[in-house]
Amino acid sequence: MSDHVFPKDFVFGVATSSYQIEGAVHEGGRGPSIWDTFCRTPGKVKDGDHGDVACDHYNRYPEDIALMQSLGVSAYRFSIAWPRIFPTGLETEPNAAGLDFYERLVDALIAAGITPWVTLYHWDLPQGLQDLGGWANRATVDAFVRFADAVSARLGGRVKHYITHNEPWCVAMLGHMNGEHAPGHKDWPEALAVVHHVLLSHGLAVPVLRAASPGCSVGITLNLVPGYPASPSDADADAMRHFDGFFNRWYLDPLYGRGYPEDMVTDYRALGRLPEGPLPFVHPGDLDAMAVPTDFLGINFYSRAILRSTTVPETENLPRTIAEPGPEARTDIGWEIYPDGLYDLLRRLTVDYPGVPLVITENGASYATTPSEDGGIHDAARLSYLDSHLRACHRAITAGVPLIGYFAWSLMDNFEWAYGYSQRFGIVWVDYATQERKLKDSALWYRDVARSGRIAG
Ligand code: FCB
Repeated sequence: MSDHVFPKDFVFGVATSSYQIEGAVHEGGRGPSIWDTFCRTPGKVKDGDHGDVACDHYNRYPEDIALMQSLGVSAYRFSIAWPRIFPTGLETEPNAAGLDFYERLVDALIAAGITPWVTLYHWDLPQGLQDLGGWANRATVDAFVRFADAVSARLGGRVKHYITHNEPWCVAMLGHMNGEHAPGHKDWPEALAVVHHVLLSHGLAVPVLRAASPGCSVGITLNLVPGYPASPSDADADAMRHFDGFFNRWYLDPLYGRGYPEDMVTDYRALGRLPEGPLPFVHPGDLDAMAVPTDFLGINFYSRAILRSTTVPETENLPRTIAEPGPEARTDIGWEIYPDGLYDLLRRLTVDYPGVPLVITENGASYATTPSEDGGIHDAARLSYLDSHLRACHRAITAGVPLIGYFAWSLMDNFEWAYGYSQRFGIVWVDYATQERKLKDSALWYRDVARSGRIAG
C-alpha cells in the first residue's frame, strides 16, 4: 500500500481546554466558573472530581509546550478561561494577570514554532454571569463580546486563529436541557434560548476579533454527529430527519444564513418546547448577525448515531426518536468507533453547506491503558482510532473536501467533565499524583505523522 500523503500546509495539531487542564483555580485573580460550582454539587461529577489542580498546566505550560515541540505538531488549540479575564464577568476592566498568563503562553508557543489556535468559550462561564441567568440571559451576549474584545486587544497581533465557541449543542443541551453539564438545568425552552444567545454572541464577536487582528482567521466549532436510519422505513427516515435537525441543522442552518430549520420549529412547537408565533428569543437583525461569514468551520467528531423510531406514546403525536450507537466496537466511554461517519459527514458538509474550509478541531478516543512494566504505554486501540480517522480525512481530501487541519483530542489526559478523571483521552499520559507526563505509543505514532505529513501504508 502506498503512503497517505497530506497536503503540504495541512495543519497537524493537538487540542485542550482551560478548565480541563489548567488547575490553579485561585491563582492570578481568577474568579469561579460554573464548572467550579457544578463540581461542588453532589452527584454531578463522577467521584466528586473537580478541576482545582487538573494537569496544573497553568504552572507547567513551559514543559507542556516543550512536549508539543517534541511531537512536531504545528498548532495548539487551547481555550481562554473567561473568569481569568473577567473574574465575575461584570468588571469594566479586564484582569491584567489573566491576560498576562495567556500572553506568556502565546509568546512561548510562537517561540517554539507552534501556531496558537485560541478558543474563546470552552464552557467555563464566570459564575457571576450565571448568577444573572447565564446564557439564558441575553445580556451575556454583550459580556461575551467584551471578553472577545479584551482578549483580542491583548493577543491581537500574534494570534491569527480564533474559534469563538466550542460545541454550542453541548452548552445548550447538556447544560440546560438534560442537566449533565454545568449549570445543570433541565428546561427545553431555556436551552433553545441559550443556543440562540451563543450563536448570536459568535456572530457579534467575529467582527471584533477581525478588527483587533486584521487578516486573522475566525470560525466556530460544532460537534456534529452523522445519523443513519436503522431501517429503510418512513418512520426511521423521519426519526433520522428529526435527529439531524436537533443535532446538526439547528446550528448549521442559522450559521449559514438559513435561519432555524422550519421542520424543527414545527416539531418543537408540537412537543411544547417552543410557543406558537414568532420565536421569542429572536430580535430583529439577529439572524443576519449570526450568519456573518467566517473563515473556517471547526468540527469535533467522535462517533455516529443510528436512528430508530419507537412506538408513538398516546400523548405525543410525533414519532419518538431513539439515537443509539451502532454495532461496531466502542471506546472506554462507550462511543462507537465509526471512521466512515467522519468521511460521510465531511462529504455531506461540502454538498449541503459549501463555501468555507473545514478543520477537525477535535477527534480522539478514551482508553484507560496504563504504563506497562517496560515503561511504555501501549495504547494500540487509541493509535488505531486516530489512524483510521486520519485515513478518513485523507480519503475526504482526495474526494475534494476542503479540509485544512486536524487536531487530536487531547494533548494529554485531563478532566473529562461529568466523567471526572475516569476517562483518559490523552496521547500523553498524566500521572495526577506526581504530574509526570509520559508519551503513549499513540503520541509517538502521531509525532511521525505530524513530522512527515503522511501516514505510512
Ligand atoms: C468534547 C469536548 C472536549 C472533550 C471531548 C472528549 O465534547 O469539546 O472538551 O471533553 O468532548
